[in-house]
Amino acid sequence: MIFSKTLIYWYLKNNRDLPWRKTKNPYFIWLSEIMLQQTRVAQGLSYYLKFTTHYPTVFDLANASESEVLKMWQGLGYYSRARNLHFSAKYIANELNGKFPETYSEILKLKGVGDYTASAIASICFNEPTAVVDGNVYRVLSRYYGIHTPINSSAGIKEFKLLAQSLLDEAQPGNYNQAIMDFGAILCKPQNPLCSTCSFANSCVAYEKKIQKELPIKEKKIKVKKRYFNYLVVKTASNNTILQERKGKGIWQGLFEFPLIESPKSINKKELISSDIFENLFSESTTLSLFNEQEIVHKLSHQHLYTKFWIVETNSLIKANVSWSSILEFPVPILIANFLEDFSVKSN
Ligand code: ADE
Repeated sequence: MIFSKTLIYWYLKNNRDLPWRKTKNPYFIWLSEIMLQQTRVAQGLSYYLKFTTHYPTVFDLANASESEVLKMWQGLGYYSRARNLHFSAKYIANELNGKFPETYSEILKLKGVGDYTASAIASICFNEPTAVVDGNVYRVLSRYYGIHTPINSSAGIKEFKLLAQSLLDEAQPGNYNQAIMDFGAILCKPQNPLCSTCSFANSCVAYEKKIQKELPIKEKKIKVKKRYFNYLVVKTASNNTILQERKGKGIWQGLFEFPLIESPKSINKKELISSDIFENLFSESTTLSLFNEQEIVHKLSHQHLYTKFWIVETNSLIKANVSWSSILEFPVPILIANFLEDFSVKSN
């Protein structure tokens, strides 16, 4: 109890002034919580403002096209979050007549909503005493109590959820949940926590034993896979190019990209030209040049994409049916968006 009282006291004096803190509208809180997963507050803020201005109600989001939603999401990453958000908005608008579910267990049924998000919305909007456990909570609790159970083990997940729930201030669960997250983000930071000014300095196990850096503990890392991407950036004489929609279940499903040749290792111009995909695409004469000598490394959670953009200039090509003047209208992965920016700077 002292723990949560101290925490809330700290929060009331130090909390961050954020736009979603001025509302209890569950639709807005839902947007903010989905955006803030795997994203820092500073980065999520502009997206939150953009989405709430453009889609002020769940009906506006439901009525938008998936392509438009993905375009608005561009740069935030983890695009399945945007697809699920859109899917659930349609469900709320059409099946629930626009009424947002009001309990933890009903909110949890929404696609893309897990334990964390359901707890956050239920506690902030509906005062339901459900504790959130995110990266901040793992860090604060593992340090304060000196817990060495790995946070990504099933035992750890259970232990931390139970502990968080037992500490929750049931009279003000929304404040408590946001307090522990803010405390983790501002004071009990991953690197260089501000222990000397911390209200818990007298009772924190990690501080006493000087093991703040060791906690929380995570089980062994998954191996990161290296992939080699070669994008064919077509430029025809009539200023057209080729964009292809990414199909299947992958991370970039629904986004557009240039024709892609994936190779088992980094390849040079000769190897690229002799690949089947290249030969099939370009029967006519082409001029091929490499845009980036240095591969661009795009880091995703389980894979690193070593990427080369090849500029293919050709006279005419039937498949090249996208005009360069319309290219910015397509939702594309941030890797491609960054390239388009560099490319337009260098071509002008
Ligand atoms: N991170 C994600 N959601 C948050 C919230 N509501 N308060 C503080 N940090 C957060």
